[in-house]
Amino acid sequence: MSDRQHSRPRWHYAPRSSWMNDPNGLIHYAGTWHAFYQCNPSETVWGNMSWGHATSPDLLHWTEHPVALWHTATEQVYSGSCVFDATNSSGLGSTDWPPLVAIYTAHYLPGSARQGTEAQWLAYSLDGGSHWTPYPGNPVLDRGSANFRDPKVFRHGDEWVMVAVEAEDQQVLIHTSPDLVHWRYRSSFGPAHAAAGAWECPDLFELPVDNDEGSKWVLLVNLNPGAVAGGSGCQYFVGDFDGVTFTPDAVVGVSTDRSLGLDDPLLRAYDWFDFGRDCYAVTSFADVPDQRRIVLGWMNNWDYAHHIPLTGGRSMMTVPRELGLVRLADRYLLRQRPVRELPASALLHHTLADGDHVPLHGVALEYHNGVLSLDRRGVGRGDFHEGFGTRQWAEIPERPSSVTVEVLIDTCSIEVFAAAGLVTISDLVFF
Ligand code: FRU
Repeated sequence: MSDRQHSRPRWHYAPRSSWMNDPNGLIHYAGTWHAFYQCNPSETVWGNMSWGHATSPDLLHWTEHPVALWHTATEQVYSGSCVFDATNSSGLGSTDWPPLVAIYTAHYLPGSARQGTEAQWLAYSLDGGSHWTPYPGNPVLDRGSANFRDPKVFRHGDEWVMVAVEAEDQQVLIHTSPDLVHWRYRSSFGPAHAAAGAWECPDLFELPVDNDEGSKWVLLVNLNPGAVAGGSGCQYFVGDFDGVTFTPDAVVGVSTDRSLGLDDPLLRAYDWFDFGRDCYAVTSFADVPDQRRIVLGWMNNWDYAHHIPLTGGRSMMTVPRELGLVRLADRYLLRQRPVRELPASALLHHTLADGDHVPLHGVALEYHNGVLSLDRRGVGRGDFHEGFGTRQWAEIPERPSSVTVEVLIDTCSIEVFAAAGLVTISDLVFF
């Protein structure tokens, strides 16, 4: 185990001294951005799972707060989401003082009558997210399953909708509720596309299509292992949602073969949120003003997550990204950019023609035959794990003769936004 220290990142949230994995319960509330996250309060490895908490006025400068939701002797607090229950539908606040409600997975430990299973719990806050009280009637949704987790809840019409996974069945389950307490099963989606690993941390949201071409729904499905760059990653599906069922525009098969190489054409035919090694558990903020859809990912990979150098604690988030949707000839593609709050001067701009090679602190960014690659082999202090020194690549849609890129380099990471954000490659690099 490496306990090397590295400087703290400037533009990325990183906890001071704890272990962090997935972003949880992202919400914009009363003018403040709240990020909760999977946290081990007492060690720099996974365990004792609780919700850490940080807030920011601008998505870039974060203040770390005390742990929001603590693990207990019999339950770990796994991933989930937060909503502002403006009408007090849950009854957990009052009409005058509506609650913030966290919906998360309790992973039951030995000593619990439910040992070995996972179910969905609520907690509520009446002080804007600082203090949380578990709902006395927990769990609110229990299938008796060992791998039913990661609820993401959003408002749709008069109902609450929850997407959550049956992780080992590679399925996203959709439930609806009038009050966050009583849930009704409505439909499921999957397995589809990349399904060699567990499906985790789903998200479902509507996005306007550029140029006023209506809107579509996007389902994010994080997957570990079996992602396009190896290990953990995020794939997505574009389609429609009628409040009950998600219907993808097209599915082009399913691959469950764990031995598939990273160059396998089947994996490459799917839509990937990011083609780098370090962008997992991607999830979006609730209640963002101006209909913006903003996400954070965990900038790490379960392949080597426990071995990366410390930056105070262990792990950081991706830069916050704003999403859009572009219509191409035969399909829709997500596009993403760092949020506009990031000063323009933080980004490098390059245009790469065929055969070009841009050295970035020893990392090689290359464009050849319509393929953009990022090579961190042998760079800096990457020798802490044999799985770390790899080269990541992505085909640029329509393989143009040149490609423009925006690059964000922080003290231990590089994020490449190529072709107006249609392709991103995000990698940790301990320069
Ligand atoms: C994803 C994940 C989730 C789970 C959490 C536990 O990284 O495995 O499925 O809720 O981490 O920390």
